Amino acid sequence: MPRTLGAYVHVPFCASRCGYCDFNTYTAAELQRDGTTVSVATYADRVISQIQQGHLARPDSREIETVFFGGGTPTLMPANELVRILAALRSEYGLANDAEVTTEANPDSVTREYLQELHDGGFTRISFGHQSSASHVLQLLERTHTSGRTWDAVAWAREAGFEHVSVDLIYGSQAESDEDLVQTLAEVVKADIDHVSAYSLIVEPGTRMAAKVDRGEIAPASDDIAAHRYPIIDQTLSAHGFTWYEVSNWAKPGGECQHNIGYWRNHDWLGIGPGAHAHFEGTRMWNVKHPATWAAAIDSSESPWANSEVLTLDEQRREHIMLRLRLREGLPLDYLSEAGWSKAVEAVVEGLLEQHEDRVVLTDSGRLLADGLVARLWD
Ligand SMILES: C[S@@+](CC[C@H](N)C(=O)[O-])C[C@H]1O[C@@H](n2cnc3c(N)ncnc32)[C@H](O)[C@@H]1O
Ligand code: SF4
Repeated sequence: MPRTLGAYVHVPFCASRCGYCDFNTYTAAELQRDGTTVSVATYADRVISQIQQGHLARPDSREIETVFFGGGTPTLMPANELVRILAALRSEYGLANDAEVTTEANPDSVTREYLQELHDGGFTRISFGHQSSASHVLQLLERTHTSGRTWDAVAWAREAGFEHVSVDLIYGSQAESDEDLVQTLAEVVKADIDHVSAYSLIVEPGTRMAAKVDRGEIAPASDDIAAHRYPIIDQTLSAHGFTWYEVSNWAKPGGECQHNIGYWRNHDWLGIGPGAHAHFEGTRMWNVKHPATWAAAIDSSESPWANSEVLTLDEQRREHIMLRLRLREGLPLDYLSEAGWSKAVEAVVEGLLEQHEDRVVLTDSGRLLADGLVARLWD
């Protein structure tokens, strides 16, 4: 399988921070450090500088096939600035004619006109953080939008011409009942989308939600509840034309996110912006994390990379197991050691894996235990 080249652009801005989120993102007041200020207004220039400064270590002459603007909330930036960054990637690296160009978006960060400008500037795919249709769940998660706003944004994206539209869901939160999830899914399957990512709530250390759990104000998230809700999601989406292609991702035919598939197949990608990681044939590099530290390096034409590591062949093999086992296309058996093979045979007998020619693929029950299985096959 030829290795594809992607580009990830990190945009570290959010209007407000959701209580559960520990992503590398900041509100306006947090973006100053050691005399350097980072703002939405000046961000595109610095991203373009990083693209042009040559610190990205151009791996070879391949064109970029997928671009992903993630965050944070990339759509807090003006649409023409995102398009300008895309143009810089095109002129420095070359962009395939049929490139997939995605942005993440918070539903209340876009308008009809904004989406039209993004689409006309070359964006083909958009992923909205919906999380839930239940207002009390959105409130617990400290989301700033209503459920209805997501469906308006989805309709505007389609009117603008976006080929692929996705929503993210968070399930298993303390405020959610089975009925809330069923109601959310009823809205999801009615919407004009071709992709869903569903993540079980993780209470990340250091977040406001973790502090509330520590103070006993809300319960911890329950693995049992998440395991009970996952089949509800899978069965409802499957009954409406979506197929799982990664443990947390479902798509209608052709709606799969090619950029993320590149990560799970352990292909190559450029990483631009604070904290962004890059990967090229077993070498990983990552930018310094704080936006102001990153910006200071860019402003003085110094390398913004915090560090890099060259993975040993055994580390690369383990990465393949961790990432590729989660895909419906399965893990090629070549990546397993002899001990890993016998663990895989055990898992087949237990009904957690199926063998499909030269690959092992998670069964329905195996999908619920994917992380534990990875650890077993690592031997
Ligand atoms: C960068 S955000 C998506 C775009 C935008 N910032 C938004 O939230 O609407 C990426 C996604 O990660 C998921 N996520 C973030 N933190 C999570 C957590 N602690 N547990 C489960 N899912 C989480 C959410 O579904 C979120 O939509
Ligand atoms: S979930 Fe999205 S909007 Fe909320 S803080 Fe995280 S990145 Fe920002």
